[in-house]
Amino acid sequence: MLLAGRKALITGAAGNLGRAIAERFAAEGCAVWIADLNGPAAAAAAESLNRRGYRAEAVVMDVTDEESVKQAFAAIDALDILVNNAGRTRGGFVEHVSLQEWNDILNVNLTSVFLCSKYAMPLLSRSEAPAIVSISSINALRVNPGFPAYAAAKRGILALTEQLAIEGAQYRIRANCVSPGWTPSEAKQRERENDAGFNIDRDCYPLGRLGLPEDVANAVLFLASDLSAFVNGVNLPVDGGMTLLATTGLIRPDLRKRWRKGVYKLEAEE
Ligand SMILES: NC(=O)c1ccc[n+]([C@@H]2O[C@H](COP(=O)([O-])OP(=O)(O)OC[C@H]3O[C@@H](n4cnc5c(N)ncnc54)[C@H](O)[C@@H]3O)[C@@H](O)[C@H]2O)c1
Repeated sequence: MLLAGRKALITGAAGNLGRAIAERFAAEGCAVWIADLNGPAAAAAAESLNRRGYRAEAVVMDVTDEESVKQAFAAIDALDILVNNAGRTRGGFVEHVSLQEWNDILNVNLTSVFLCSKYAMPLLSRSEAPAIVSISSINALRVNPGFPAYAAAKRGILALTEQLAIEGAQYRIRANCVSPGWTPSEAKQRERENDAGFNIDRDCYPLGRLGLPEDVANAVLFLASDLSAFVNGVNLPVDGGMTLLATTGLIRPDLRKRWRKGVYKLEAEE
């Protein structure tokens, strides 16, 4: 088991990706703290893991509130892994975004990574195999008009990860991040199978499908475990190659259609 005997705190672990990460870690022998603003959902997620013989505990925590973060880490005796996963998005062009909305998005996605890392580091520095993994987004890597605050926050995570990687190295703390593409739950993807808008989105993913929470959880597991013992300060996109599309002719839907049929090169040469 890749995380036998280790302890991890995962923020936003009552949600879609966080829960998948907690499940994956628990199955690898890790004790997990399910830290979330949503207490009942965190308790249910922890209970579901404990019922199956895993070790999980719910922690109610607001990642935007320094006192709440401080208290949550003060109650912990030992920690090997911090996963900064809590976050949310909200759309709107710059001229329609209020300062309050801007600050809210920056706080929950980026300031949270600073706060949780700050209070986790003293604990992590006492671990034999400490790691921080933060969840960014493909919105940090390519422009998605209408998400200025989210993009700024998620790209900020890339910069902060590099800082943490070098500052933490003195304690052997590795810091890396994962940038998922659009990753709805499997049930949501099945629900929208015949929805035209959904299929246009899916067509933007070269592997012909969207990501699944398990895809993200596996990447986080890699960066949290000894499998990546010499990987520090990187961003790992988990998007089936989606962000690469912007650098190819395949950004054009007509060329993409030809490529899927296997005639792209031939017609492009004509
Ligand atoms: N799902 C995707 O398509 C996708 C793609 C790229 C990046 N991401 C990122 O992955 C992370 C998880 O996304 P998700 O899809 O699981 O979202 P989700 O909404 O399903 O889960 C987010 C969880 O974070 C919790 N949360 C929100 N604010 C909080 C706060 N202030 N303090 C503590 N917990 C808080 C929520 O209660 C929820 O349980 C986010 O950072 C998101 O930006 C998601």
